[in-house]
Amino acid sequence: MSVATTTALRFEKIKDKIGARVLNTKAELLSGDLAQGLRDLIEQVGVLVFPQIGFTDDEQIAFTRTLGTYTTENADGSVSKITLDARENPASAEYLKGSLYWHIDGTMNGVPIFASMLSCKVPSPKGTGNTGFCNTYAAWDDLPAERKAELKDLRVVHGVWPTVFYYEPEPSLAKLKGMMRVGENELPLVWTHKSGRQSLVLGCTAQRVLGVDAMASAEIIHGLREWATGEAFSYSHEWDVGDCVMWDNTGTMHRAEWYDPDCGRMMHRTKLEGEEPFA
Ligand code: OGA
Ligand code: MN
Repeated sequence: MSVATTTALRFEKIKDKIGARVLNTKAELLSGDLAQGLRDLIEQVGVLVFPQIGFTDDEQIAFTRTLGTYTTENADGSVSKITLDARENPASAEYLKGSLYWHIDGTMNGVPIFASMLSCKVPSPKGTGNTGFCNTYAAWDDLPAERKAELKDLRVVHGVWPTVFYYEPEPSLAKLKGMMRVGENELPLVWTHKSGRQSLVLGCTAQRVLGVDAMASAEIIHGLREWATGEAFSYSHEWDVGDCVMWDNTGTMHRAEWYDPDCGRMMHRTKLEGEEPFA
């Protein structure tokens, strides 16, 4: 007779509308037994925190692979180093300045990544460098019905170029044109997922709402950002060494909170390939 052992997912909610702390051991996470439970949970709560789990890079990649298709920016398949320190990260430190503002990763792609995972190697001083998250499913769900009716069919043009103005108000034309080469991408304001659930598609790449004047467009984009990032729907994670945090990139926005680029803050990131297009 064989005895089947099942590992139970152990977690505690952080807030009613966002976040859960997963309390299983590293070995339990790496076994893959919890993968379906974790996928279901992250779709509900948006953000999973694995407090001081202490993944090595190889373990983080292995854990990521249990949850879906691992995708990497690096030819050698390694994790990405996330830091604003230009000495550590010459290629992307400039681009990462945009990560200080609320965003969804991959709004320039038809199929954005499903989820990302950050592991804290070196935290910034307390009070700086938290990562903020907000639940864009819950933010949509809780809008009044009349507001939903006004918003549900709107389309929004996204670009990388609008993000430069958040951190550099007077960029050179050459710099602007460089960012414009990435192009623009028209997306629905309200994403209807395959599950039938709906979420808001916002963030610092959102440039203009089609079919309305510039002020009405800004009111929609910035008013909804203020709503979605409000206390009820958001969580700010203060990092300790070894923490790993994973977010559902299709149902949340996130941002790094300000930190000194020279403070040494270092995160290692893995990503899960997208599974459905914005629709
Ligand atoms: C990212 C990101 C935020 C942070 O890795 O996509 O936005 O806190 N990171 O470093
Ligand atoms: Mn990001």
